[in-house]
Amino acid sequence: MKILGINTSPRDNGNCKIALEKALETAKAEGAEVELINSNKLNISACQADNYCKAHEGKCPVDDDMQQIYRAIEEADGIIFAIPVYFFDVNAQMKLIIDRLYSYFQFPFAETYGTKKVSFIISQGTPDVAAFENTLKVQFGAFEFLGFELADFVVLGDNNIPGAINEKEDQMAQVVEVGKNIL
Ligand SMILES: Cc1cc2nc3c(=O)[nH]c(=O)nc-3n(C[C@H](O)[C@H](O)[C@H](O)COP(=O)(O)O)c2cc1C
Repeated sequence: MKILGINTSPRDNGNCKIALEKALETAKAEGAEVELINSNKLNISACQADNYCKAHEGKCPVDDDMQQIYRAIEEADGIIFAIPVYFFDVNAQMKLIIDRLYSYFQFPFAETYGTKKVSFIISQGTPDVAAFENTLKVQFGAFEFLGFELADFVVLGDNNIPGAINEKEDQMAQVVEVGKNIL
């Protein structure tokens, strides 16, 4: 069982990374092989909409670090994203990845690579965890549309300070559950 974690926050000491590491550590303790990718450190272009993928079995021709993420997604049994809210939505680093998943659209992704579970851990400054739920769920609808199975959607509020999550037992308990449910 391979579990891939993708952190889209640029903050090395941020709450997304801490939460994701905890979830992956939990999955590992349950016997999974885990990998963590910090997408902000990678060179990922925007989708170029050339539709090459539509005639080439879902392969994207853009030769950048998204190729590493495609391969990791294809090999994983489950994927956990950790994403900060920027201006009421996912951050741009996450939107780049979502748009590049267009290569899997109209390609039988689940039939080829299997039905994979996907979970989302969101970190935000606003304490109201429902504040951006509608927008976030629209973004994540892309994954269900492509044939992924939604496991968890967890919003961690009041986390403007890097490492704030370390003081919050309830949030840490939530991400431990994410690490269990993805298996
Ligand atoms: C450019 C930018 C925009 C942000 N916009 C929002 C927002 O609209 N709503 C919110 O609750 N928090 C917002 N925040 C706060 C982050 O979501 C919050 O600090 C989050 O916990 C960051 O995750 P990290 O610690 O993993 O980097 C914003 C932060 C930045 C840098």
